[in-house]
Amino acid sequence: MQPQQLPLFSPEHVRQYNYPFPSTRYQGSKRKHVDWIWESVCELPFESVLDVFGGTGVVSHMFKNAGKQVTYNDYLTFNWNIGLALIENAQEILSEDEVEFILTPNDVIEYPTFIQKNFNDIYFTDEENAWLDFVVHNIDHHLQSNYKRALARFALFQACIIKRPYNLFHRANLYMRTAKVERSFGNKTTWDTHFEIHFRNFIQEANQAVFDNGQLNQALQCDALL
Ligand SMILES: C[S@@+](CC[C@H](N)C(=O)[O-])C[C@H]1O[C@@H](n2cnc3c(N)ncnc32)[C@H](O)[C@@H]1O
Repeated sequence: MQPQQLPLFSPEHVRQYNYPFPSTRYQGSKRKHVDWIWESVCELPFESVLDVFGGTGVVSHMFKNAGKQVTYNDYLTFNWNIGLALIENAQEILSEDEVEFILTPNDVIEYPTFIQKNFNDIYFTDEENAWLDFVVHNIDHHLQSNYKRALARFALFQACIIKRPYNLFHRANLYMRTAKVERSFGNKTTWDTHFEIHFRNFIQEANQAVFDNGQLNQALQCDALL
C-alpha cells in the first residue's frame, strides 16, 4: 500500500511543531482561522512575524509552531502576560508543588481584600472574590519567575472568563448566575464550578503549550498607534 501523501501545503506538512493552544472563550480570538492564515502565507519566504494586536496569542503561537521568530505585542497588561507565558517563554512551566502553593492560603500572610472591597456583588460571589484575593497575592508575591507568574495569571484569566455570563465583563450581572430561574442559555454548571477546578485545568493546558522553537521570541506591551 502507498504511504498516505499529505497535501503539499497542509498545516501538518509544513509546520515544524504541533503544540496545542489552550482552549479560550476570549471574544475576537482568531483560533478558528489560524489554519487558514497559515495556508495563506506558508508559501511566502519569511523568518519572522510581528503580531501587533496579539490578543489571546493564538496567531503568534501558530507561527511559533511554524518555527518563526515571533514578536507578540498587545497594549493591555493582561494580554501581554499571555504573550510572556506562551510566546516568549520557551521552557518554564508550573510544577505541582507551585500550583499547590498558589492554591493554599497561608495563615501567616495577611491577604489583601482589594477585590472583595471593590468588586462586591459585581462579577463574582463573596466567596469567589476572597479566593481571587489570596490567589492573586500568592501569584504576585511568592512566585519567583516572571514566566511562571505570567503562566499562572493566564490560567487565572481563563478561569475568570469561563465563569462569566457571555464570557464578558461588560456588565455587573452576577444576578444572572445566582437568580433561581429557568434558563435557556449559558452554562450554569461552568459558572458555578469552583475557581480552583478551572484554574487547575487551565494550568495543565498552559503548561502543555510552552515550548522552545529555537528562536528568540518576544512579548511586548506597546501602543501600536504611537
Ligand atoms: C481582536 S484582538 C486580537 C485578536 C488576536 N489576533 C487573537 O486571535 O486573539 C485585538 C487586540 O488588540 C489590542 N489593541 C488594541 N489597540 C491596540 C494598540 N493601539 N496597540 C496595541 N494593542 C492594541 C487589544 O488589547 C486586543 O487584545
